Amino acid sequence: MEYHVKDLELAPSGRLRMEWAEREMPVLQQIRERFEAEKPFQGVRMSACLHVTTETGTLARTLQAGGADLVLVASNPLSTQDDVAAALVAYSEIPVYAIKGEDNETYYKHLHAAIDHQPHFTMDDGADLVSTLHTQRREVLSTVIGGTEETTTGVIRLRAMAHDGALEYPIVAVNDAMTKHLFDNRYGTGQSTMDGVIRATNVLIAGKTVVVGGYGWCSRGIAMRAAGLGANVVVTEVEPLKALEAVMDGFRVMPMLAAAPIGDIFITSTGDINVIDARHFEAMKNGAIVANSGHFNVELNLAALAEMAVAAPRSVRPFVKEYRLPDGRLINVLADGRLVNLGAAEGHPSAVMDMSFANQALSAEYLLQHVDEMEARVYAVPEEIDQNIARLKLAAMGVQIDVLTAEQEKYLHSWTSGT
Ligand code: ADE
Repeated sequence: MEYHVKDLELAPSGRLRMEWAEREMPVLQQIRERFEAEKPFQGVRMSACLHVTTETGTLARTLQAGGADLVLVASNPLSTQDDVAAALVAYSEIPVYAIKGEDNETYYKHLHAAIDHQPHFTMDDGADLVSTLHTQRREVLSTVIGGTEETTTGVIRLRAMAHDGALEYPIVAVNDAMTKHLFDNRYGTGQSTMDGVIRATNVLIAGKTVVVGGYGWCSRGIAMRAAGLGANVVVTEVEPLKALEAVMDGFRVMPMLAAAPIGDIFITSTGDINVIDARHFEAMKNGAIVANSGHFNVELNLAALAEMAVAAPRSVRPFVKEYRLPDGRLINVLADGRLVNLGAAEGHPSAVMDMSFANQALSAEYLLQHVDEMEARVYAVPEEIDQNIARLKLAAMGVQIDVLTAEQEKYLHSWTSGT
């Protein structure tokens, strides 16, 4: 079996940490038990391009239990947990191609290894696998039946492909399920991003001004958790509705240029490029801390910052690079502008990934069952899957809810009775 991981000797640690994560993933465990009996992926070659974490390890083993012939590669050069990669190779015989800190060339070599697997099914996070397949490896496209996509950025890219008539097979947008984005993007990103900032810097958040770029579901989570830790939160936005929501949620809203001189910590999660650009770095206080939690490392213009700096950046702590400006001000960039929650911490906690990855597993099963009726476009996760995951999660948490009485059902379907 071919694979490319950092060190197989790390496998025992990866296995232990996966065991710990699984305890918080009861929904995925139930799905795994059913998959073990029903084998919905028997004979299916799958290539997954995901952050290689303990939670992804649990998903990978679930897909394998369902009969999938799986290859797993990293969806980001900095997010791999090397012990998990080793454990999946050593104990589950899953070919993994992922090393934390891999350079861009290795990252793409790993993507090509996933494509060399000649997948019937792609499971992507950010759409790099799908994009590479459609641009550089078109000869493999005829083998692919369908796929799923995990994240907002990936879904936006896929919709752009579908709009241009470039997408060649159906893909289910897992991100858009309620049981995914309302929980993973908000509570998962909120907690893990602050975790990343704190692990990297150990700074006190209380009393700091934290500037959050964007007010989508991820940024909302970050703003909420930063406020919970005692920060004064400032939000920057380009969309009036989201800006209005941020105002009414109690945050100050202003352009990034106005926020730049007052912020102590900056965190972007917008999905767009150069959200923090040269003019913003130019206006920042000495000692400002700058991080990104959006999918790609494009939100901070680090090339511009490097040009402004008088010397190469200095590594002052793991995941902290200090840039010195000509007037002596220091700007600290976390995790090289890559996802700080996965670079400097461990990504979203397992309990929330339980629902995201239940959506992945069930959407893959659904697509393979319905592929004959599907076209080459982006599909929503079926509502039954979303509702079912919510039900299973509540049950696993021991939470019961009310059931409509027959009288209430009837009322909800009538239009004659008023006051
Ligand atoms: N994306 C964000 N957090 C993650 C995690 N813990 N595992 C896999 N993908 C993630």
